[in-house]
Amino acid sequence: MVTQSEAMREAIGLAERVAATAANVLVTGESGVGKDAIASFIHRRSSRAAQSFVKIDCATLPGHLLEAELFGYERGAFTGASEAKPGRLEAAHRGTLVLDEIAYLPTDAQAKLLRVIEHREFERLGGRRTIKVDARLIALTNVDLPDAVARRAFREDLFYRLNVMHISVPPLRSRKEDLPKLARSFLHAYAAKHGRPVTAIAPAALKVLQEYQFPGNVRELANTIERAVIVATGKRLEEGDLPEPIRDSVRLQERHYHPGTLAEIEAAYVNEVLASTRGNKAEAARILGISRKNLYERLARQK
Ligand SMILES: Nc1ncnc2c1ncn2[C@@H]1O[C@H](COP(=O)(O)OP(=O)(O)O)[C@@H](O)[C@H]1O
Ligand SMILES: [Mg+2]
Repeated sequence: MVTQSEAMREAIGLAERVAATAANVLVTGESGVGKDAIASFIHRRSSRAAQSFVKIDCATLPGHLLEAELFGYERGAFTGASEAKPGRLEAAHRGTLVLDEIAYLPTDAQAKLLRVIEHREFERLGGRRTIKVDARLIALTNVDLPDAVARRAFREDLFYRLNVMHISVPPLRSRKEDLPKLARSFLHAYAAKHGRPVTAIAPAALKVLQEYQFPGNVRELANTIERAVIVATGKRLEEGDLPEPIRDSVRLQERHYHPGTLAEIEAAYVNEVLASTRGNKAEAARILGISRKNLYERLARQK
């Protein structure tokens, strides 16, 4: 995993220490920050690395199906259960089970999971046989669990059990030091994948990426670089290869986040429009709604 920033080195350091133990882990952070990546890192670095690494997404399946998938079921447990089936928990025996979007786990399943943590046992749906299981649980969430607890949507006892080891992964916008390294590693990976000759990122392109807020975090950066690698025509990824919404948002943000006098903002805008017309002053004046003479005067004042 790429880790340049202090915050990320701390998170990975914690993950490394946890990996060596049998502790359950809670990994929190916005969508796309790398929670899954941390979970698989912990598994690979643990003594369970050779055993199964199983995942279940609690947000995608409706409650009863999720429970059946997680705990398994016996024949006849519900309509359609024509054969018994072990769940993901059993599949993760001696290995690691990742519970993605844990906040969406239904209340019944929360109680059963608590029993798994405290007594390492459970029954399949419709089953009477108690099954012993040894799995390290890694719970992921981008939802504020204490808030869910306060709303009584999540069991407090389960939260405390999971929260014993907590790794918080910060959003990409708060650790921009990671960005150049991440961008370059994605560039090389996607250039190889798509057989493109792109080998470097132009400073102007990198500057735009550095200033963009990346609401979709590392995943959005990866997607952005993949697209840019495909559209790039040269050996270097240029600013123009980046998606327009990202370039626009950076330009707008520069205006909002660096407040200045009207004259400064006007001058910056005039230059931006000029750049967009590639220096064509007649066209720039038309876009700005001023005469060419007025434009020349403004440019003279900037000097
Ligand atoms: N530090 C990192 N180094 C390299 N790749 C990363 C890193 N963090 C995230 N990624 C990649 O970004 C993408 C999104 O990460 P993921 O773990 O799925 O995020 P989340 O689970 O938080 O939504 C994945 O392709 C992952 O491999
Ligand atoms: Mg994920």
